[in-house]
Amino acid sequence: MSVSANRSAAGPTALPTLAEARERGVPIVMLTAYDYPTARVAMAAGVDVVLVGDSAAMTVLGYTTTRDISVDELLVLTRAARRAVEGVPLIGDLTFGSYEPSDEMAVATARRFVSEGGCDAVKLEGAGEMLSRVRAIIGDGIPVVGHVGLLPQSVVTPAGYRAKGRDADEALGIIADARALEEAGCAALIIEAVPAEVAALLTSHVAIPVIGIGAGAGTNGQVLVFHDLLGLGEGHVAKFVAQYAQGRAVLEDGARRWTDDVRAGRFPTAAHTYAIAPEALEVVKKRLGS
Ligand code: KIV
Repeated sequence: MSVSANRSAAGPTALPTLAEARERGVPIVMLTAYDYPTARVAMAAGVDVVLVGDSAAMTVLGYTTTRDISVDELLVLTRAARRAVEGVPLIGDLTFGSYEPSDEMAVATARRFVSEGGCDAVKLEGAGEMLSRVRAIIGDGIPVVGHVGLLPQSVVTPAGYRAKGRDADEALGIIADARALEEAGCAALIIEAVPAEVAALLTSHVAIPVIGIGAGAGTNGQVLVFHDLLGLGEGHVAKFVAQYAQGRAVLEDGARRWTDDVRAGRFPTAAHTYAIAPEALEVVKKRLGS
């Protein structure tokens, strides 16, 4: 049974559905989406929650890190996804630099994701000083999803994409961060690139839903990046990615065959062409003198 089996048909679903899923031991399925078609695919697949991640910076906008995308850019994508997402929560990712400086800025940005992006909740990375941002946003009535383990917004070079929590101190630090985020009021947590045993321990030491990416099977759910899952990206994919389709190869093949057909005169055929009555064509030709 999916988490969403008991989702209400009316209106946006609040994050309590995720808490219920944890209670019932039903794995939560979260997928990123960045526009109308990708969110439609997520809906058709029956996912339980959609995240408009700042991974859009790299997957959609071609930047080299997630730090490069602006709030305005992500909001355009969020609104497009919003038009497709129905009956499950839509979470917006607060972008790098849009929430860290102050509680006031964090609240103002979170409000934009709700009012302009139509999000049901926002996600932000880290604990420590961010706990105050979490409390401020929640105090403003907006649910927050925390993010621990590998924090992509802190990564500046490809070498920075490495698993976290592989030594005792780092593992304990991540678990402490998760507990502090729960204490601050987070509705759920994402844990990224952490050994499975550590993620499972963390999950058992908090009471809110924990959704893993590269964190093994002992969490309450899984999230993957749309383009990774469906093979739409290029180059290196992380060890934790399972590719369930070779989307890019399919798209490239179609585009290449069409290109070849145009050049060879095989496209368009009569089937792709509009007709005009012969008499009307005669009139056109006569008036053109041809
Ligand atoms: O930005 C994103 O897509 C994310 C997921 C990897 C969880 O944060």
